[in-house]
Amino acid sequence: MPAHNHHDAPEHSSTQPPSGDDPTGQPSATQPVPAGYQKVETRDGVKIVRDAPVSFVRRELAMSANRQRLWQDHTGTTILPVSRLFGQTSVAPQSQLNITETWGHDAPLIIDIGVGHGESTFAGATAHPDKNFLAVEVYRPGLAKLLDRVDSENVTNIRMVEANAPEVLDHMVPEHAAAEVWVFFSDPWPKTRYHKRRLIQPKFLDRVARVLQIGGLIRLATDWSHYAMQMRDTLDAHPAFKNLHPSRLAGKTSPLTLARLHGTDDGTPLSEAEALDAIGGWAPRFETRPVTSFEAKAQRAGRYIFDLTYQRTD
Ligand SMILES: C[S@@+](CC[C@H](N)C(=O)[O-])C[C@H]1O[C@@H](n2cnc3c(N)ncnc32)[C@H](O)[C@@H]1O
Repeated sequence: MPAHNHHDAPEHSSTQPPSGDDPTGQPSATQPVPAGYQKVETRDGVKIVRDAPVSFVRRELAMSANRQRLWQDHTGTTILPVSRLFGQTSVAPQSQLNITETWGHDAPLIIDIGVGHGESTFAGATAHPDKNFLAVEVYRPGLAKLLDRVDSENVTNIRMVEANAPEVLDHMVPEHAAAEVWVFFSDPWPKTRYHKRRLIQPKFLDRVARVLQIGGLIRLATDWSHYAMQMRDTLDAHPAFKNLHPSRLAGKTSPLTLARLHGTDDGTPLSEAEALDAIGGWAPRFETRPVTSFEAKAQRAGRYIFDLTYQRTD
């Protein structure tokens, strides 16, 4: 699982295979291009590549023998099978889930995106055994750790998919199937030149809007004030979402005011007037969201935590 300070990966143009992922497939000239991909001419012929940089860098996949066995035993059941045409974390268009068949019954679906070691999924699923949970992550050892807990504690309402989240939303999740989408501590990509790798962008919100039921929720948390601002701006500008906590914590008590006042992200404190966040809109901490290892690290570093909850409007 990458840490915040490991994001110095070289930039790749969209005509190259996605950073950290395996090379894309070789399409025939007539093969249709699925959502999220584009065809490009290369010296070696036409290739299908993602149409935007991915939000992750794939890291070593080492797992203990026990975890590898567990992974194999649960592949096809708790670990959902995925058809992959264009690379190891890709999702082919024919992968749409049948929710009732996949979980064995119909229940509100919560999709947890970029789960890391799965602490938030596990806490949510055990607090709400009456709901179905889908954990989405590209980092297999993280999912395997969650699987270990799921297996040893006989948790039956979690399914997992090892794949790129935008493609899971495009190709696996049916329209209006989800009650909630969670994105907690999404990689902040602090350097300006890598901001295009951030997950929370208008196009990603279009995907979330498609899979959420009307009235459904997207819950976000981050420890990075600049990213928190971008999340709030992008959600406020999106016609399918409304803030459930407009103006909350606006002014001196805003975590954004405090982060800017103390310069917690970049070591450059602003004056009171410059730091003031007059907009607010920060949500209370979501009840089942645990303090994960990522959040604990952010807290130790003195960073503020930002929660946002927006509702899918009709
Ligand atoms: C900073 S960690 C946060 C983990 C966890 N949500 C938490 O709160 O502790 C972000 C995780 O998102 C995963 N990730 C980033 N982009 C992703 C994508 N496009 N699809 C699936 N997982 C992704 C990374 O592999 C990483 O494990």
